[in-house]
Amino acid sequence: MYQVKATVLFNEKAGKAHYRMKLEVSQIAKDARPGQFVHIRCSSGDDPLLRRPFSIHKCAQGRIDILYQVVGRGTAILSKKRRGDQLDLLGPLGKGFEIDSAFSKIFIISGGMGVAPLYMVAQEITRLGQGKEVTVLLGAKNKELILDKDDLESLGLRVMIATEDGSEGYQGLVSDLFERLISSQTSLSLAVYSCGPVSMLKKIAELSSHQGFFCQVSLEQRMGCGLGACLGCVIRGTSGYLRVCKEGPVFDAQEILWDDPGLEIK
Ligand SMILES: Cc1cc2nc3c(=O)[nH]c(=O)nc-3n(C[C@H](O)[C@H](O)[C@H](O)COP(=O)(O)OP(=O)(O)OC[C@H]3O[C@@H](n4cnc5c(N)ncnc54)[C@H](O)[C@@H]3O)c2cc1C
Ligand code: FES
Repeated sequence: MYQVKATVLFNEKAGKAHYRMKLEVSQIAKDARPGQFVHIRCSSGDDPLLRRPFSIHKCAQGRIDILYQVVGRGTAILSKKRRGDQLDLLGPLGKGFEIDSAFSKIFIISGGMGVAPLYMVAQEITRLGQGKEVTVLLGAKNKELILDKDDLESLGLRVMIATEDGSEGYQGLVSDLFERLISSQTSLSLAVYSCGPVSMLKKIAELSSHQGFFCQVSLEQRMGCGLGACLGCVIRGTSGYLRVCKEGPVFDAQEILWDDPGLEIK
């Protein structure tokens, strides 16, 4: 883990409320694994005081990308950064996805911004070689909010869309589309990697529990230190409390107590 100054190479709009930022930060880029995150000090002053966590979306040649949505003070400040600006980063942090080459059928399932940590999962699975049937399911409220479809297709993966308003692809929730698609699958050869709203992850975790397939999810909790010290991100797991920043943000779906009210962002 490093604390470093990263240089903004670009920070551009990607759709209505989303931005892509590329940062020159060789130390973090060289160690980053799919599912890990960086903790960014958005402001040089004390408003906001706490760092904000963002998944490492892409990583190559000493650079990382983050893909983010403006939802409050920290992300609004981030959206104003320009080429050449410097940001204080901690990273790479947390435990990422375990990508096991043994599985022959893989679903990567994203809801909304959930695609941010999943692009590197898709890249890693592609790198592991041929002979796998990989399907990426991208879900969003409407087609304007679907991110990364072209990038994922250019990795050679089958990409399917679910929109709640039916403006593209399957009309309904991406977890419902997934349930339909797996009804005829053999669970033992199946792996699922997912990130998105808690309600979506909970549904996928229930399917995993009933059908016995391997399933890892990435959770987003509000964070303080990002280093395991403040306990600000704790949730309840099946065998005790879990720090999302340290034991996660990626967990086996069966490790989580999905009815824990602490799972919802307060
Ligand atoms: C491990 C991890 C990875 C993340 N990766 C990404 C990413 O790649 N792209 C991205 O856009 N966002 C990501 N998030 C969420 C991001 O950290 C928050 O959106 C951000 O901290 C909000 O800061 P703010 O100051 O703009 O908003 P605030 O003013 O702090 O809050 C505004 C709104 O955002 C909600 N919010 C605040 N913190 C979080 C949080 N940690 N998770 C979810 N909602 C939150 C609040 O409930 C509130 O409704 C990630 C969170 C975690 C824990
Ligand atoms: S954010 Fe401090 S322990 Fe996780």
